[in-house]
Amino acid sequence: MEKCVLLLTVLFGSITTRDPASLQLTEYNKTHHERSFIQTRYGAPVSDITSSLTVGPRGPILLQDAIFLDTMSHFDRERIPERVVHAKGSGAFGTFTVTHDITNYTRAVVFERVGKTTNISVRFSTVSISLGGADTTRDTRGFAIKFYTEDGIWDLVGNNMPIFFIRDPMLFPMLMHSQKGNPVTNIKDPDMYWDFITLREETVYQVLRVFTDLGTPDGYRYMHGYGIHTFKMVNAQDDAVYVKFHYLSNQGIRNLTAARATELAGTDPDYATRDLYNAIANATYPSWNLSIQVMTFDEAERFRWNPFDVTKIWPEDEYPLKPVGTLVLDRNPTNYFAQMEQIAFSPSNTIPGIEPSPDKLLQGRLFAYSDTQRYRLGVNHLQIPVNCPFHVTNYQRDGASTNYNQGGAPNYYPNSFGGPKNMPSAASSTFRVTGDVKRYNSSVEDNFTQATMFWNKLTKEQQTNMLNNIAGNLKNASPIIQKRAFTMFKQVNSTMGSTLQTLIEQLK
Ligand code: HEM
Repeated sequence: MEKCVLLLTVLFGSITTRDPASLQLTEYNKTHHERSFIQTRYGAPVSDITSSLTVGPRGPILLQDAIFLDTMSHFDRERIPERVVHAKGSGAFGTFTVTHDITNYTRAVVFERVGKTTNISVRFSTVSISLGGADTTRDTRGFAIKFYTEDGIWDLVGNNMPIFFIRDPMLFPMLMHSQKGNPVTNIKDPDMYWDFITLREETVYQVLRVFTDLGTPDGYRYMHGYGIHTFKMVNAQDDAVYVKFHYLSNQGIRNLTAARATELAGTDPDYATRDLYNAIANATYPSWNLSIQVMTFDEAERFRWNPFDVTKIWPEDEYPLKPVGTLVLDRNPTNYFAQMEQIAFSPSNTIPGIEPSPDKLLQGRLFAYSDTQRYRLGVNHLQIPVNCPFHVTNYQRDGASTNYNQGGAPNYYPNSFGGPKNMPSAASSTFRVTGDVKRYNSSVEDNFTQATMFWNKLTKEQQTNMLNNIAGNLKNASPIIQKRAFTMFKQVNSTMGSTLQTLIEQLK
């Protein structure tokens, strides 16, 4: 026993001083572990968790060893499917506080008065790597926020870049297949990556951003977040405007160079996860300021680009940021699997006052998330505590893993027994849609103007880093695909395209 205590002190004591991530386990040992005894899943006390029930010391094991069966059968089922994208990530809990009144734009309860505070959870992620991959991989980063409001859950499922690769959700599986890995080798494949990119030139602006040092942020605290899509805000008078969400880091922007990101991938693949956890454990709470850009329906008619094109920004000098509130993360998860692996965000989780725009990529996402979660977590995933709204009354019942089944409340509608009723004031705004129905090719819109504007705004150093980062990756693609890439990048800027060509020839 003494030996055991000594070992714990040595292990956890020494780790604690270096890494607060171990602190919780030490605290848990002190408060709970010493008082409790081991039980099976069905609650029976376990006499010995280290020995199976055998005929003699050499075995075999008896089928009646319920403790072994209970232990092993649960272990065999510990893993659930990882997210099909955004598998590797981490997050935390905190609050959102309104600092500026925007009730002229929205009746959403989360913005109802200055000073109002709402609990939030946030999950940050990489996109294209699988669980176990390195946090510092060059990639877009996910930045998803869940607001637990009185009107239900509002999920703002954004990224750390203000635009996206494609316009049509039909292409999302193609985009991700080309980035996740080769079907034969299961390795990321530069041919697949650059083949898709250069055959779909609407990707070019986002590719430029990913290959600046913004593609390797220094952890999750030093990056901005964006809702990216155009959303609709609707006020109490049912007047609607279009908005985009920005959440800007109060820590500032800090990125890693390609060399440092590669080094960290080898020495500390969980770099961003550790950094976020330890910052919060050390009471250095990260925060972001939420603001919106607003565009009226009339302005949307006149905007020189499609205002619902997710590969474009709305220039901030024309549509300035209006401050709204502050997001603070001040609480770490107490259990990663329960609270972060099982957290489920969906752009379709909206509350009265916030609605989707016609953006087709957003419309595709409205289906994809809850669909994948019904597969990944089950039909009742919204009953998992981290996903659960305050209180739900409706006529849905039963299904796998039902926990809260609304007791004896009526399970059909209409009924004469006081079951929940419609709330007409929660109706979404009325809008008119016309147009010829067909499958429109979205690759032929303006793909380069904003990419060129972005290139022109970069400093010389940023341009050089970007070119080196692209060259370092593109050099591994086949010559025919490289040639297509030079043609594509020359349309952003002719010098950029030719410098890239020279760089790659030097690397050969
Ligand atoms: C048609 C386009 C898209 C589709 C079909 C799509 C689909 C998905 C799916 C299936 C997941 C896994 C969800 C889960 O297992 O819980 C996911 C995760 C995610 N997506 Fe998308 N996505 C699309 C575009 C985007 C865009 C444009 C953004 C940013 C605005 C984005 C941000 C995220 C984030 C942040 C996550 C991780 C959420 C978490 O932390 O659990 N996605 N996406």
